[in-house]
Amino acid sequence: MSITTDADWWRSAVIYQVYPKSWADADGDGFGDIAGIRSRLAHLARLGVDAVWFSPWYTSPQADGGYDVADFRGIDPMFGDVADVEALVAEAHDLGIKVIVDIVPNHSSDQHVFFQEALASEPGSPAWQRYHCVRGSDDGASPPNDWRSAFGGSAWDPVLDASGQPSGWWYLHLFDSAQPDFNWDHPDVRADFEATLRFWFDRGIDGFRIDVATGLVKAPGYPTSGEGEGLHLTFGEILDFPQWDQPGVHEVWRQWRRVSNAYHPPRIFVGEVWVATDEALAAYIRPDELHTAFNFDYLKCRWDAGQMREVIDRSLHTSAMVGAPTTWVLENHDVPRVRTKYAVEAAGERMPQSNTAPVPGVAADDARGLARARAGLVFMLGLPGSAYLYQGQELGLEEVVDLPAATRQDPAFRRTRGAEGFRDGCRVPMPWTRRAPSFGFSPTGASWLPMPAHWGDLSVEAQTGDPESTLELTRRMLRLRRAEQALGDGDLHWISAPGDACLVLRRPADDEDPHVLVAMNLGDSPAFVGATEVLASSGAPPEPGDGGYWLAPDTAAWLR
Ligand code: GLC
Repeated sequence: MSITTDADWWRSAVIYQVYPKSWADADGDGFGDIAGIRSRLAHLARLGVDAVWFSPWYTSPQADGGYDVADFRGIDPMFGDVADVEALVAEAHDLGIKVIVDIVPNHSSDQHVFFQEALASEPGSPAWQRYHCVRGSDDGASPPNDWRSAFGGSAWDPVLDASGQPSGWWYLHLFDSAQPDFNWDHPDVRADFEATLRFWFDRGIDGFRIDVATGLVKAPGYPTSGEGEGLHLTFGEILDFPQWDQPGVHEVWRQWRRVSNAYHPPRIFVGEVWVATDEALAAYIRPDELHTAFNFDYLKCRWDAGQMREVIDRSLHTSAMVGAPTTWVLENHDVPRVRTKYAVEAAGERMPQSNTAPVPGVAADDARGLARARAGLVFMLGLPGSAYLYQGQELGLEEVVDLPAATRQDPAFRRTRGAEGFRDGCRVPMPWTRRAPSFGFSPTGASWLPMPAHWGDLSVEAQTGDPESTLELTRRMLRLRRAEQALGDGDLHWISAPGDACLVLRRPADDEDPHVLVAMNLGDSPAFVGATEVLASSGAPPEPGDGGYWLAPDTAAWLR
């Protein structure tokens, strides 16, 4: 592998995201837990990932799937306790897997001790200064400004007085009203998060995924944003607004980097950075700030060769500006499953950019969706830098589009009365075995979201040993990626011309051997790739021709 030193592992890593509530349930309550994760760690080892990222498992009332944290140094009893995390980290490390955990510095739960202290005191008092508590306009009767919650509605809720009446003061929440935004100008907030970083680093955590890394600092004076009623800052539409991407946030990341650099080996950060421009993104991954950021431009690409090539080039350029590696991602716990996204596009419909909108239509072309999802995986794993897999992507799971409204937990679904907030569709628990009703997810058959009846056929058990399966494809590709010097961190050279429907690139960029050709055919007819050998393919093996191979539509391959 092209990892040069162990401290640089993150430049090439394949990182698997676990959404703990939905991965494996040991105690039978229908919610995943840490004991369940420990019992299934062998899956990650066999898959061959370098690291695992856990979505939040901290003490939380679960108003936003655990992204509403009441105690950043405590584990919610539904998942286990701190000792369970320590045991899990040790076991993962024994398997050669690094551990990254989520941290949510923009906001807390309304059950956090700081917010409870604020609620117990007068608006405007010191306890409130750890949050944004501001006098309303219209003599306190209206919110202080026009800022909107990313989950719908105003970003301000009234602070009530002792008798339960509006006090004329309002607190800020860029997400759910149960997620008040911290005031990062307050020294207590900064000190508390540093203590949290050290707490987990001292327990062997290798890094953090930073939630909403463009939030935290708000423009002084809370100026009007001009967002307007009805416009929501859905994921990926963060614009030039005074509550996002303020210059002051970079000082926070520089300080966090100093904390992480004091460890041996240094701990790492990956930021959730939704910004408007490449320059803005590059600023977050300067050498003294975050190590990497998610590449959401790539995640948002349609099945379109021109768009993908342009985004790949821009991504490489952006990270090269500051010497950071690129990252690649197709799925996470906030966006529709890529199989379904491509299936909808293959049927000629436009997929929404985020899970805030329902998946359109029923005419989706699922066979092509799956073929493209497999191709997308093979192609992504051949690109320079590190790559993310979301749990179930290795099984080719589809978005569950027909969850009954009563089962949906996404706070945006409630806040918009069902018009938005469909993120539960990608959070349905993992199928491990063929056995209904919850396919090995839980020993009792319980599951916090209903699982589609056919998911037994997509389970780890059903796919293991079937060379055609998406699971065995993923295992093969990760093995090969480790074996090929040319892959992981590095550069590329385009073999295909701009405008070609089949993307072909060489790793590394110069003529060195051994090299790998990474190809994906996004066109409607077979495409010829000059090569002497096929290393792997996402679908039907490419047909040999004169001096090369014919790659079928909706297929990706690695060749030489
Ligand atoms: C991030 C998380 C998302 C969460 C939001 C608020 O975008 O990925 O799941 O709802 O932050 O914390």
